Amino acid sequence: MAELAIIIPVLNERDNVAPLVAALERALGGIDWEAVFVDDDSTDGTREAVANVAAADKRIRLLHRVGRRGLSSAFIEGANATLAPFIAAMDGDLQHDERILPRMLQALRDGAEIAIGSRYVEGGGVGEWDATRAGMSSFATRLSQVLLKVQVADPMSGFFMIRRDTYDRAMRRLSAMGFKILLDLIASLPTPPRIVEVPYTFRARVAGDSKMNVSVMLDYALLLLDKMLRQTVPVRFVLFAIVGLVGLAGHLAVLRLGLFAGLGFTRAQALATAVAIYANFELDNVITFGDLRLRGRRKVRGLIIFAAICSVGAIGNLGVADFLVGTSHEAWWVGGVAGAVMSLVWNYAVGATFTWRRRFA
Ligand code: GDD
Ligand code: MN
Repeated sequence: MAELAIIIPVLNERDNVAPLVAALERALGGIDWEAVFVDDDSTDGTREAVANVAAADKRIRLLHRVGRRGLSSAFIEGANATLAPFIAAMDGDLQHDERILPRMLQALRDGAEIAIGSRYVEGGGVGEWDATRAGMSSFATRLSQVLLKVQVADPMSGFFMIRRDTYDRAMRRLSAMGFKILLDLIASLPTPPRIVEVPYTFRARVAGDSKMNVSVMLDYALLLLDKMLRQTVPVRFVLFAIVGLVGLAGHLAVLRLGLFAGLGFTRAQALATAVAIYANFELDNVITFGDLRLRGRRKVRGLIIFAAICSVGAIGNLGVADFLVGTSHEAWWVGGVAGAVMSLVWNYAVGATFTWRRRFA
């Protein structure tokens, strides 16, 4: 068994694979290592590039995921697919400086639990980032330090090495959302780990494109929220509820407009309901279930199922409200709120089960 496994999440990184393996080979002389590329069904020939280097080198492995996305979850599955006592996370685009890997490994052999490739300690840097990206990174870093009380200079780093037993202690509590797996690991450990930060300078990307976008930033906000909630309430449910409130506002607006246009209450209400269901579906598809986003024919089918689920939810809502107000003589608003909460929970539970499903669990 290799002593060190390097987990490399890749999404459309074809031209970086061979140079990265060559760089690892140069940097890791004398170390027994393996590399696990975790590919989320890239469309640019990344897997063929991995196969090409693997044909000549047994240390190179591939994990191919279908119907999944996410840098953090890719790392987790890669880490779970190796038995090496030391596990490193590294980007597949050559932006992380592989030459510090031996120092990170030495730090772990000497008793550290996590060694971080750090841009924010003496001797490290963000390289050629523009002011906007650098500002966002330092803001996000500050946020995690304040909200999650993480005492690390660079908790946002995607370049680190961890002992297998430390990883195992955190693994079942991970939120596994978005990009920031190191922060997730540190915040999931019951006690603060012994950490060493090794400086390096973030390199500029040469081939391929960054996958950083607005939805990655949203994932970061969700990770912070999930860690603060300590997994008492699923964040997805919180998002679903927020989207539901937006939908309710839309519903009332359409109802009002319908009444103005002289549609009459029943028709205006039916129109508002249809618009609200459709708007909720679109928003949930992008925001709440963005990682399981439905497209094309699956999306049409998903919308039909979602509309059916919401209709059943609405009937349940009316039943609960009717019972509370009519039979138990509760105040009107108790009935209203209880009915709405009932639909919310129903729509969420059934929607999450039948509309946005993992295709490969
Ligand atoms: N398997 C998989 N699935 N890999 C992914 C995914 C995904 O959904 N998204 C991104 N990757 C891979 C990329 O192919 C690349 O190898 C690596 O993850 C990093 O993605 P980039 O898109 O290059 O990220 P970046 O350079 O903007 O951001 C990096 O910045 C941090 C520093 O602030 C992060 O990725 C961190 O790792 C890094 O420390
Ligand atoms: Mn990158």
